[in-house]
Amino acid sequence: MQTAKCYAINIVLILATTILLGNAVSAQYAHIKINSDQLGAKVSPSLHGAFFEEISHGGEGGLYAELIQNRGFEDSQIPKGDTIKNGQLIPPRTPHYSMGKGQVSDWWMPWTITSDYPGWSQTDSSASMHLQLSDAYPLNKATPHSLKIDMLQSGSKSALRNDGFWGINVQKGETYLLKFYLRNSGNYKGDVTASLMGGSGKVIVSKIFIVDSKNAWTQYTAELQPLVTDTKAHFEISFGGRGTVYLDFVSLFPKHTFKNRPNGLRADSAQKIADLKPAFLRWPGGCFVEGINIQSAPDWKETIGPVESRASTFSVWDYYTSNGFGYDEYLRFCEDIGAKALYVFNVGISCEMRSGTYVEGDSVQYYIQNALDAIEYAIGSPSTKWGAVRAKNGHPKPYPLAFVEVGNEQHGTLYAKRYNLFYDAIHAKFPQIKIIASMGIGDVDPVTLRDMRYVQYADEHSYKGAYWAMGNYDHFDRYSRGHDWKMYVGEYATNNGVGRGNMIASLSDAVYMMSMEKNSDLVKMSSYAPLLVNVNDEDWPVNLINFDNAHSFGRISYYLLKMMNENKATVNVKSELQLEQSKIAKENAFKGGIGLATWDTHAAYKDIQVEENGQIVYRSDFIHHSDDWKGLRGRWSVKDSAFAQTADGAQTFAYLPNKDFTNYTIRMKAKKLGGYNGFIVPFAVQDTNTFKRIHIGAWVNAVTLVESVSNGYDVGNLSSPARLPFKIEENKWYDITIKVMNDSLAAYIDDKLLITYKEPVKFFALAGKDEKANELVLKIVNAYASPYKTTVELSGVPNVGAKGKITVLSAPDPNAENSFEFPTQYIPKTREVSNLGKSFDLQLEPYSISILRVKL
Ligand code: AHR
Repeated sequence: MQTAKCYAINIVLILATTILLGNAVSAQYAHIKINSDQLGAKVSPSLHGAFFEEISHGGEGGLYAELIQNRGFEDSQIPKGDTIKNGQLIPPRTPHYSMGKGQVSDWWMPWTITSDYPGWSQTDSSASMHLQLSDAYPLNKATPHSLKIDMLQSGSKSALRNDGFWGINVQKGETYLLKFYLRNSGNYKGDVTASLMGGSGKVIVSKIFIVDSKNAWTQYTAELQPLVTDTKAHFEISFGGRGTVYLDFVSLFPKHTFKNRPNGLRADSAQKIADLKPAFLRWPGGCFVEGINIQSAPDWKETIGPVESRASTFSVWDYYTSNGFGYDEYLRFCEDIGAKALYVFNVGISCEMRSGTYVEGDSVQYYIQNALDAIEYAIGSPSTKWGAVRAKNGHPKPYPLAFVEVGNEQHGTLYAKRYNLFYDAIHAKFPQIKIIASMGIGDVDPVTLRDMRYVQYADEHSYKGAYWAMGNYDHFDRYSRGHDWKMYVGEYATNNGVGRGNMIASLSDAVYMMSMEKNSDLVKMSSYAPLLVNVNDEDWPVNLINFDNAHSFGRISYYLLKMMNENKATVNVKSELQLEQSKIAKENAFKGGIGLATWDTHAAYKDIQVEENGQIVYRSDFIHHSDDWKGLRGRWSVKDSAFAQTADGAQTFAYLPNKDFTNYTIRMKAKKLGGYNGFIVPFAVQDTNTFKRIHIGAWVNAVTLVESVSNGYDVGNLSSPARLPFKIEENKWYDITIKVMNDSLAAYIDDKLLITYKEPVKFFALAGKDEKANELVLKIVNAYASPYKTTVELSGVPNVGAKGKITVLSAPDPNAENSFEFPTQYIPKTREVSNLGKSFDLQLEPYSISILRVKL
């Protein structure tokens, strides 16, 4: 394997043992030597894009500005091909694409829809109003259902209520465009009142309509102009007369959307995406593209044309989208924000993590043609079939579609063969379109690649735990070179062990982004995922932009991405980093208390002993001193001179209060009493919610892991899993030994080594040049708790400006996060720096990401 030429910074770690103890906070030094003459990889201008998926109501009830939930009364339908049994949504039991030998997946998901008309309710249960979902009079073929409303007496107080997506955000001064369709069965006489109601139950604004007596669908529209603001408003429609009407497609839209597009996007979230200046925007997923089964998977053709006649699509993330934010709206949004479009289409295979149902043989042709049609819709001339449809939809000029991806997260030999069919057809007709091959959930897969005839871009997905990026800064360096394909990191995020996206996540993400930038000869594109989350329905742990119905804010990594994108170098330059760390800082890495824990397991622990410098400093005695230990979560009691945990469930925890150890060895005996896994030994316990731990027998008695726990329950993997040498048996005592050294550890069972782990270096630097601006761009991450005095030495340039600019993103606490309350608490701050030259000093703050720009 040929490895990347390493123009990246080489790290030399020097343990400075001579530095005075007790001076940990000021004893850290870094030297960065840069030779700006020695150029490395060119940095791809498309390095940072964005990834939209219909997940966590990212579109429906999110970016898409529609305010009414289930406007078309289609959201209670069982997705095509599926059945419901005992509260389970069951896909067709047909073979799974990759399980082999015609095996069928037994996957199902809970069917959570309990109403025939979700999103809608009756304001009082008086018998005067009777509601029923009906397919008697389809508004159009694609949306066959409507709501049949029988008003049994006139003057009824009962109304239909819709709370939108967790409340309707009504703003004084905004105009709301209301549209709905009514069909009089012929006997309804009276009026209809549509109102926006405040949280207090008061009418904010309303409009009365006289119902047409025709037995035909009639459209009613109004502009509502509220005089007050209420972010928790709701919509009501009431019927003053008596008789039967049918109601369908009730839509309420703010007049002001992003760029004031009709049927447009919510201005605040859309602007946040625009501000990232993404080089491209991927759409519509993610697993969403694949569907829970192939019959109900999305089809772009159902997402264009008049919104009233777009069928809804069931998202794998357990809700319906009205497809209001359809293919055309997406392409237009790309155009509006100056991004290239990257469209991902289904290849006739549903999500392999779910049912994995698929089509084969001639049926694949439909999907190939559908992809070709989608491309033609975006870029074909108006004289082509689908180009003409685009023109008819109001956009004769082509859209900026530049990339397509052949499926999402498919991989393997079978998929590779299918990919070849798509590649050949697309490349033959649209050679200008770049084609991306999916590679499954993880790294670029050599087996998948092997059977692909041509690959332009391979899509790696990379969801990682806290600090993973720091231990794997050479991840992309390790990929072979000398092949044609380039890499698109289609989904990445540090999303494990980092709260909902805290400063640790951003420090790790920064290092990951730098590892991509330094390998930009290979990594040409990337997109953080997921982009959006409605906090009322979170399907994924960490997301870039958070919103509710009225507000939105960016996680710290949102600002990081913006800052990295704005400060991409155009070319890497050679640099070298040397760190000097004081001994005390290293010793502190795993300093702390100890604990005991289990996960879905009952276990007993005894003869616990801690040694420091060869001396026994603690020995348990559960007979005479059982109070030494506190069982905090789970059911802990002394049994047969051991401390036993006998409750079911995950995340049990006991600890030894008021004891702190440095450089220590923990020994104990452990016995499994029942359950799925093995033993958990917390160490480096800072408080009862913050510690590290060794999980022996995790993943149902299969592996050992080193994990970090924050906020009590938030678990992140520090190590990769190490296979157990044997299964932990029940009712057998094992000897466990854990050697916790300065910044590394080793765990043993019955003297057999289970796992070793070393804390990664947490200081990184990457140098590059912005050739247009003729500036040096130096990115530095200091993820340590100590400030670093850093000397930068520059060679290879005749002159260096005395003044420059440094942009710093930092937080005093690694667990810090932005929030609705303090949305911009942690954002980059730019200031001027002076006294620069060929050699200068910088003070790097703890937990900081800094980008320095200096004129060359
Ligand atoms: O980004 C969330 C999910 O993660 C995507 O739907 C899927 O592609 C990936 O596994």
